[in-house]
Amino acid sequence: MLVTLHEILSDANERHYAVGAFNCLSLENVMGALEAAEELRSPIILQLAEVQFPEAPMELMAPLFLEAAKRSSVPVCVHLDHGQSLETCVKAIRLGFTSVMFDGAGLPFDDNVRMSKEVTRIAKAAGVDVEAELGKVGDAGDSMADVFTDVGESVRFVEETGIDALAIAIGNQHGHYVHTPQLNIQRLIEIHDAVGLPLVLHGGSGTSIEDFKACIRNGICKINVATAIQRGVMKRIKERLAQNPDEEYIPLKKVMTEASREVVTEHILLFKDPYPTSPRGGEKDPLYLPEGRR
Ligand code: 13P
Repeated sequence: MLVTLHEILSDANERHYAVGAFNCLSLENVMGALEAAEELRSPIILQLAEVQFPEAPMELMAPLFLEAAKRSSVPVCVHLDHGQSLETCVKAIRLGFTSVMFDGAGLPFDDNVRMSKEVTRIAKAAGVDVEAELGKVGDAGDSMADVFTDVGESVRFVEETGIDALAIAIGNQHGHYVHTPQLNIQRLIEIHDAVGLPLVLHGGSGTSIEDFKACIRNGICKINVATAIQRGVMKRIKERLAQNPDEEYIPLKKVMTEASREVVTEHILLFKDPYPTSPRGGEKDPLYLPEGRR
């Protein structure tokens, strides 16, 4: 069933789990991701980023995402990832996306507030939810100096814009990490205590299990994963071609769907119940930090 971001994230926020948001560039990605979600009876977010439009145009992908979501037996949110302009966000809203991200993280703070607020005003009139970003997530290899989300700015940003979810920068980066990152969980705790809104972790691929757990424990409700799917699919294609260099197209299509399902399954299981021994919905320990980082 097709649902909004708010519907999916409010339950995750209340019960301390995170929902995987998977960047899907093909039919195989979408079919594999939904098979995984249905098998695990888990909500899921299908998303497409504006930088991916050349390979997967939004106008073509929207009907696929939306029809797949409507047919699914689990809650599915169809989300625009990293919308770079008001125009792109409005286009996504008109195409039926149930949430949009406006990415103004590269703008000066006041411009980011003004633009995110404008996107939110328009989206809300259409019943669509909004994610926005503060701090610079950047790409793997970028310098990490002075890019973390500021706690005081997050409070002002959330109050002034009226967004539904805030993407933060705590040492996470998009793409292939050279080294496994050590996320700034202390900063996450401070932001979460200050804003109380569902928080979003971008750059999920390559994060340690320990950091995933600490993030989910401390307010991250949506985790974006793109690179891991692409890598997982490529790995399986190479393996199949190594076994059989003359493999045909249709069996390879099946390999791509199956590999997408595997990667999404692995992540949903990680995000779903990281504390099986703790009472779900019980008091969380606000000081939870990974071993050795207390
Ligand atoms: P990764 O490619 O690092 O998983 O990042 C995905 C992402 O954050 C999309 O917005």
